[in-house]
Amino acid sequence: MTPKIAILGAGPSGLAQLRAFEAARKAGLEQIPDIVCYEKQPDWGGMWNYTWRTGLDEHGEPVHGSMYRYLWSNGPKECLEFADYSFEEHFGRPIPSYPPRAVLLDYIMGRVEKSDVRKYIRFNTAVRWVEWSDETQKFTVTVMNHDRGALESDEFDHVVVATGHFSTPQVPHFDGLDRFPGRVLHAHDFRDAREFTGKRLLLVGSSYSAEDIGTQCIKYGAEQVTFSYRSAPMGHHWPEQFSEVPLLTHVDGKVAHFRDGSTRVVDAIVLCTGYKHHYPFLPDELALRTDNRLYPRDIYKGIFFQRNPKLMYLGAQDQYFTFNMFDAQAWYARDFMLGRVDLPDFDTREQDIDHWRAREEKLSSPVEEIDFQAAYIRDLVDRTDYPEFHVERQGEVFKQWKQDKKRDIMGYRNNSYPSTLTGTVAPPLPAPWMEILDDSPESFLRHDFTAPEVSTVGRTLDRQYTPAARRSTRPAAPRTASVKA
Ligand SMILES: Cc1cc2nc3c(=O)[nH]c(=O)nc-3n(C[C@H](O)[C@H](O)[C@H](O)COP(=O)(O)OP(=O)(O)OC[C@H]3O[C@@H](n4cnc5c(N)ncnc54)[C@H](O)[C@@H]3O)c2cc1C
Ligand SMILES: NC(=O)c1ccc[n+]([C@@H]2O[C@H](COP(=O)([O-])OP(=O)(O)OC[C@H]3O[C@@H](n4cnc5c(N)ncnc54)[C@H](OP(=O)(O)O)[C@@H]3O)[C@@H](O)[C@H]2O)c1
Repeated sequence: MTPKIAILGAGPSGLAQLRAFEAARKAGLEQIPDIVCYEKQPDWGGMWNYTWRTGLDEHGEPVHGSMYRYLWSNGPKECLEFADYSFEEHFGRPIPSYPPRAVLLDYIMGRVEKSDVRKYIRFNTAVRWVEWSDETQKFTVTVMNHDRGALESDEFDHVVVATGHFSTPQVPHFDGLDRFPGRVLHAHDFRDAREFTGKRLLLVGSSYSAEDIGTQCIKYGAEQVTFSYRSAPMGHHWPEQFSEVPLLTHVDGKVAHFRDGSTRVVDAIVLCTGYKHHYPFLPDELALRTDNRLYPRDIYKGIFFQRNPKLMYLGAQDQYFTFNMFDAQAWYARDFMLGRVDLPDFDTREQDIDHWRAREEKLSSPVEEIDFQAAYIRDLVDRTDYPEFHVERQGEVFKQWKQDKKRDIMGYRNNSYPSTLTGTVAPPLPAPWMEILDDSPESFLRHDFTAPEVSTVGRTLDRQYTPAARRSTRPAAPRTASVKA
């Protein structure tokens, strides 16, 4: 009998699931399952859909988006290339390794737009509740259809949770924040760096959001950025406007106090303190409880909920790899739903989870973490017909990326890397990242990105950040970038 499948969310993970079935159809599968994908936003793309909104959306639903204007990929695009759709195929030519958000969105959407999957998606439809019945062996999914203004329910054999986990902010309290005479916000609500031009910023947290919001604010004219860390500083070679201090203890007026006794006068505070895995539509017995880690407990192969494998999670782990990892998961989940693969019994699955967790707990460096996630993806890819994309070679690019960041945190996006699909080394940016203030797709894609004559892997363009570059407000002009060894 054809299974009935609910996919929750039409971000990159949910779209990967839809595309996995589409790929099977193209490969000759005649009986496509009955699929419904519920998406609370009016369009697909998930986190990559920029919204100016914060708080609640037009329907009173929590705003999903955590992305901000001027966000650029923080990893090389060569590490997130779909195995069956290269960047070169999409754009018709090579483009630089670090594209702005809207250009990446264009790529992600390019693949799904070429397929026939939009028809499966019910937009403006928020999932409210999912229930499992031992009696019928089915899930009942209840949604709020905002177009109709009505609650609706339907039954499914399988449910794929693809609602992301970088949307519900983790917001600690610090004494004095209630009396701070300036903006206090979580990174989830950060939108436009220009709001902080000329301001002294305190960013609590020492991970990707802190690093990226801090560098972006300086790029758009903030005066000073102080990072406050809980466990360890980021330790980059920061230019003089940046400093790293231990954890904030309290705020007194505009004066922030830190654990080492030091103080700073600040104008605004951004809590870059991460996100929660939050599944308000799932009862306790079905909800994944985990922190942001590479191998959450309770999901076999990082996908199948241990107590009920008919419930699947995509993209629930912390991520070096993203889009192609979601694909690898979606292809394997698809084969399970189609009855092409069987899962082992509970105890064998538990042993497999224990094995991966034991490996994960021994990891002691980013290099080991990258290898771990690549091995996890390899384990999935080898079980399906997902095309080869050389995940280990992409892992090597990630390692190079780490080194390039260490060498030059303000300039690492000026580097170029080779595609593991096409072999092409990306052309350089038309100007250093710090100077490109207009990052709209129209501006970015009007360049012809003349390919470099030599590989620039691991090298940095001979242009460093300078205050003069920061003050420049002109959009990037087309010109040949100078590449020096
Ligand atoms: C600030 C920021 C920057 C990032 N930058 C990068 C980057 O440069 N490169 C990279 O590879 N990754 C980046 N990521 C990681 C990013 O999360 C992934 O690239 C990707 O978006 C994850 O896809 P997803 O589909 O799992 O989740 P999401 O993209 O979060 O999509 C989940 C979807 O589920 C929908 N949804 C949620 N709840 C419900 C509900 N109750 N009912 C119906 N629909 C619902 C949402 O509306 C959304 O469309 C970044 C993340 C953040 C927060
Ligand atoms: N341009 C981009 O592409 C871009 C930009 C931003 C974010 N992102 C993505 O967004 C995702 C989330 O990144 P993130 O940095 O928001 O989250 P994260 O990686 O989970 O890091 C959370 C940070 O908050 C700190 N923290 C948590 N609770 C705290 C508390 N109570 N007090 C003080 N500090 C606390 C953590 O400190 P400890 O180290 O002590 O745990 C950690 O430094 C990542 O996948 C990242 O790649 C991408």
